[in-house]
Amino acid sequence: MLRVISQRSNLQTASYNIFRGVRLGFSSTSNREELITGLDDNNVTENIASRVGRNLHLQPNHPLHTIKQKIETHFLTLHTSFETYSNLSPIVSTKNCFDDLLIPPSHVSRSPSDTYYISSTKCLRTHTSAHQSTLLKESKSKCFLCTGDVYRRDEIDRSHYPVFHQMEGVKLFEEGTHVSVIEDDLKKTLEGLTQELFGDVEMRWNTDYFPFTDPSWELEIYFNDEWLEVLGSGVIQPSIITNAGLTQPGWAFGLGLERLAMVLFKIPDIRLFWSKDERFLGQFDGGIVEFKPFSKYPSSDRDMSFWTGSQNFHSNDFAEIVRNCITEDIIESVTLIDEFTHPKTKEVSNCFRFTYRSMERSLTNEEIDRVHFKVRERAVEELGVVLR
Ligand code: PHE
Repeated sequence: MLRVISQRSNLQTASYNIFRGVRLGFSSTSNREELITGLDDNNVTENIASRVGRNLHLQPNHPLHTIKQKIETHFLTLHTSFETYSNLSPIVSTKNCFDDLLIPPSHVSRSPSDTYYISSTKCLRTHTSAHQSTLLKESKSKCFLCTGDVYRRDEIDRSHYPVFHQMEGVKLFEEGTHVSVIEDDLKKTLEGLTQELFGDVEMRWNTDYFPFTDPSWELEIYFNDEWLEVLGSGVIQPSIITNAGLTQPGWAFGLGLERLAMVLFKIPDIRLFWSKDERFLGQFDGGIVEFKPFSKYPSSDRDMSFWTGSQNFHSNDFAEIVRNCITEDIIESVTLIDEFTHPKTKEVSNCFRFTYRSMERSLTNEEIDRVHFKVRERAVEELGVVLR
């Protein structure tokens, strides 16, 4: 996760009273109360709170549900002992999300510019690995798949969204099993899964780094003329297992459902998964079908330049303001197109290009100007930037 969370690029586009029982989505009022606490550490916004409980991965015929089902069926056919969990609350303790996984206190993924905190000890899970330790204790067969929505403060573009969906897989072996046997099993299992999803594709394993597995690997496939990361995996760190009161060794993997679905269904923009428009949802019937863009509405660009004004300026904080001012999904990307440091004053100037486009309708210049102006005002108020 070091790499995945700190660079925040991979699995997204490529991660209680928990068990089995169906946990229904919250109503929006209880979301607010539970998630927006007003405590100092709390940085969950209305926009994010409104996503909790949507459970796209549980909506029949939704592409994310279809991929989840396909993977689960593949596992259950081949390895009958796998248990599946899809209803675990995304509100987790920081202990489960980070400490139990040996993620050091100073790790960037814990920073409030990267993670949504409800309080100093509770957050929205940043990956489904947050359930590893608890499920290791609770699971009977010690083999499980766990799917859910995960939350990361992030940049804005067609393949990044602050909420996405991951599936975690864990399998333990008999005590004393040699690590090479575990590695072999992990790689064979995931190659089989990838083949099931993508057919006969070229695959390659690269070594990777996660605090909670050692050794660790990522799997890439060659698809549409490029290498694409599909998952992160590795042999679980023994102390995670002993801390859960167990002794058997095992493997774990985590994959991003949007990344797979965007490729398999040819869905060009990650915002579409959240669409309630029948022209989107109506295209899917539970199988893997190619998405047909119902219309491409025109985009409109606006630039915004400012002196960042403080050492602590973080582009994720800026992205958060943008997402909050623009409640409807009408922003396609916000890209830093120019950055320079004043030679004398050492002040830093940034210029961001905003590309506005709705997936569902045409936007008027007036409404774009209105929200764009709001972003400018809020950036000044909340981040202390100085507009140029
Ligand atoms: N949790 C990791 C991530 O979100 C993925 C992972 C899961 C890697 C399990 C190794 C083992 O990036």
